[in-house]
This record gives sequence, C-alpha cells and structure tokens, in this order.
Amino acid sequence: MNPQYRSATINDYDAMLHLWKSTPGMGLGGADSHEGIQRILERNPGLSTVAEIERTIVGTALCSQDGRRGFIYHLAVDAPYQKRGIGRALVDSSLELFRQEGITCASVVVYASNKEGREFWSRLGWRLRDDVVMFSTDLLP
Ligand SMILES: CC(C)(COP(=O)(O)OP(=O)(O)OC[C@H]1O[C@@H](n2cnc3c(N)ncnc32)[C@H](O)[C@@H]1OP(=O)(O)O)[C@@H](O)C(=O)NCCC(=O)NCCS
Repeated sequence: MNPQYRSATINDYDAMLHLWKSTPGMGLGGADSHEGIQRILERNPGLSTVAEIERTIVGTALCSQDGRRGFIYHLAVDAPYQKRGIGRALVDSSLELFRQEGITCASVVVYASNKEGREFWSRLGWRLRDDVVMFSTDLLP
C-alpha cells in the first residue's frame, strides 16, 4: 500500500514519539516533550510531514526554518517500511516546502556514529561538512 503524506499536527505527538523511540539511530532529548514539539510545529506551520499507511504513522520529517536556512530533524521511517522510498519522499517534500518559503539551503544533524543515516544522506546527494563541528549548551537553570 502506498503511503499518504500530510502535514504533522500536535495530535500526532504520541504516534511520532512511539516511532522515534522504536527507531534505532534517533536521538531524543528534552526538546522532544509534547510542549517542545508543539512549539516547533506552531512556529513552522505546515513544514513538518508524516507518512501514513492505513492511518498508522510510519515516517516523519520534523522541519523548521529561520528565514535563511531550513533544518530537518527526526527523519525516521519505521523499520519494516524502510528502503521503499519513504525517506527520500519525506526529504523531497520538506525541500519543496522550504523552497516555497524562499529557503535555498537546508541542513541536518546526524550522529557521527549513525552509519546508515550518513549513507542515506550521502545517497541523496547531501554534502558532508567536514569543516564544521557542533557545539551545544543547556539553558535550563
Ligand atoms: C535513514 C532513513 C530515514 C531512510 O529511510 P528509507 O525510507 O529507508 O530511505 P529510502 O528508501 O527513501 O532510500 C533513499 C535512498 O537511500 C538509500 N538508502 C537508504 N538507507 C540506506 C542505507 N542504510 N545505506 C545506504 N543507502 C541507503 C536507498 O537505497 C535509496 O537509494 P535510491 O533511491 O538511489 O535507490 C531510515 O533508514 C531511518 O529511519 N533510519 C533510522 C533513523 C535515522 O537514522 N535517521 C536519519 C538521521 S536524521
């Protein structure tokens, strides 16, 4: 059965979290709380996409843009449905949505240890940036 693609809503939270928790290679943190996901969806209306098969979410692409760049997070496809083109379709859809908002550059952060994830992005023609590293800080008290 072909997947259906539609915008993610906060009502999808439980199903998305279930997918992320059950998919190896995903990194989850405090920002993935219900409130955190609600905030990214509200600040970026229509930009995140889910893939559904028989009303079950089997793929997600969580996306944001800051006016200059687009970012893709939590690209995940449920293991039994991988290697069928769903990941590529989610990325293509995200890039088209970015284009419609005038965004011309997109990035994704992948764990260095995620060999399969790295191979996927390379296969899609994304360029590995070996000239940058990522720094983070926590703002919680
Ligand atoms: C990475 C992931 C999203 C790919 O989803 P998918 O639906 O299996 O990918 P697709 O079927 O659309 O594959 C697209 C292309 O990438 C290739 N590809 C997919 N996974 C690959 C892998 N592990 N190694 C090499 N190539 C791979 C496919 O062969 C396909 O190539 P083609 O279109 O030229 O034939 C999925 O494997 C996944 O959810 N992994 C766990 C979470 C993760 O690591 N996410 C990425 C980090 S953000």
